[in-house]
Amino acid sequence: MASKKLQMNFKEVLDKDKIFEIVKQCASDLGIEAYVVGGFVRDLILKRPSKDVDFVCVGSGIALAKKVASTLNANKSVQVFKNFGTASITHKDFNYEFVGARKESYQRDSRKPIVEDGTLEDDQNRRDFTINALAISLNGSSYGELIDPFEGVKDLKRKIIRTPLAPDVTFSDDPLRMMRAVRFASQLGFDIQADTFDSIIKNAGRLKIISQERITDELNKIILSETPSYGFKLLYHAQLLDKFFPELTNLQGVEEKNGHKHKDNFYHTLQVLDNTASLGGDLWLRWAAILHDIAKPATKRFHAKQGWTFHGHEDKGSRMVPKIFQRLKLPLNDRMKYVQKLVLLHLRPIPLVRDNITDNAVRRLLFEAGDDIEDLLNLCRADVTSKNPARVQKYLSNFDLVEQKMKEVEEKDQVRNFQPPISGEDIMQTFNLQPGREIGIIKNEIKEAILDGKIKNNREEAYEFMLEAGKKLNLTITS
Ligand code: CTP
Repeated sequence: MASKKLQMNFKEVLDKDKIFEIVKQCASDLGIEAYVVGGFVRDLILKRPSKDVDFVCVGSGIALAKKVASTLNANKSVQVFKNFGTASITHKDFNYEFVGARKESYQRDSRKPIVEDGTLEDDQNRRDFTINALAISLNGSSYGELIDPFEGVKDLKRKIIRTPLAPDVTFSDDPLRMMRAVRFASQLGFDIQADTFDSIIKNAGRLKIISQERITDELNKIILSETPSYGFKLLYHAQLLDKFFPELTNLQGVEEKNGHKHKDNFYHTLQVLDNTASLGGDLWLRWAAILHDIAKPATKRFHAKQGWTFHGHEDKGSRMVPKIFQRLKLPLNDRMKYVQKLVLLHLRPIPLVRDNITDNAVRRLLFEAGDDIEDLLNLCRADVTSKNPARVQKYLSNFDLVEQKMKEVEEKDQVRNFQPPISGEDIMQTFNLQPGREIGIIKNEIKEAILDGKIKNNREEAYEFMLEAGKKLNLTITS
């Protein structure tokens, strides 16, 4: 009864978009069967709109793609991957992928060509999870019928990730699927079925044959999910995380000495990560959260009086970022510098709330953080993981005060996007100098004087200050 209901719905959905009718017609002209398959069907049932549609046909995916493209008048947008027997069409925001049904495992990104043709059943058998092995017929009288050989719909309802075949077989076909299992669990809030999870633990070592780019793609999807800590905990317990991110698993554990305990920095980090997610943080703010305490193990010391300290972990952590980014094949560009900056500065806003704090400290932080100041404050807010609600409230309102103080200082001094009020040109002209070290010295002195509040951030005061600085260097004014 239930499946009949679904059947009717699918036909209705297919009728809303003419692409399905077109594929049906083209497949019928070529005398082959075609189906919509995989993630698109899963997302349809979950009501998650998707712009990627996968079609599988019992025959040549490339021939079908070419015929569909010519009907759509989109010949130019066909991309053919001959080795893999696949082709794709980009059309009006949508990406349509066509593949011939195959007996072998589905390995779109692998370099190994896939040659063996198969039936729809073969194809569904070799897919990763039951919820991704659903197909909808685009053929004749069965048009709109759901083909669900592994009870994928039931698993969607029960919120379960499970492999269609014995998990050892599915994972050895493509070990990246172990990461994908965790990624789907994290994105969808699903459980991983016990046998499937046990098999991941057993096969975790096989992740080493997978390229870091593919692993990091999945990791980033986990990081971008609503509660990323869930995905990280699964990665950790499945023993996948230490295979590619040992610095993070190293944070796990609590040491006790003379009655002093420090917090578990792994679980703390995961909570900070979740907090940045609830604040709407993008991928890079979330990476800053993941890495903000990464140097705690390396800087951990025990002092008889103070207990545990992690002095300098922000500085060391920030210096660890490039190596980690490089190994994880994350971009070594301004995004990495942003993460480094946030890790380095993450403790700086904390003392700024004290009454006796000078504007200078605020001004310096504004200068150093620049346009990333709001993100830095959000990272600080996210870093408040105390279990005591009164304390949390106090810390958070302290950061609101810091923000207010920063606004006031910025209004007066505009140092957030600091542009030197006196240029090197000005200095050279005033003292009739050729380019040389004096110019750098004077420019730096002016900047320091502004940041220290000795002069205002304007041309007049900076000009006077420059004349004085020149005098001290025994320079003569020429204009
Ligand atoms: N697939 C698979 N094994 C893989 C990768 C993909 O079996 N290692 C199959 C699954 O049936 C999947 C389909 O190929 O549904 C499409 O893969 P992909 O586009 O990577 O994932 P989606 O499931 O579409 O999900 P998303 O778009 O969220 O990545």
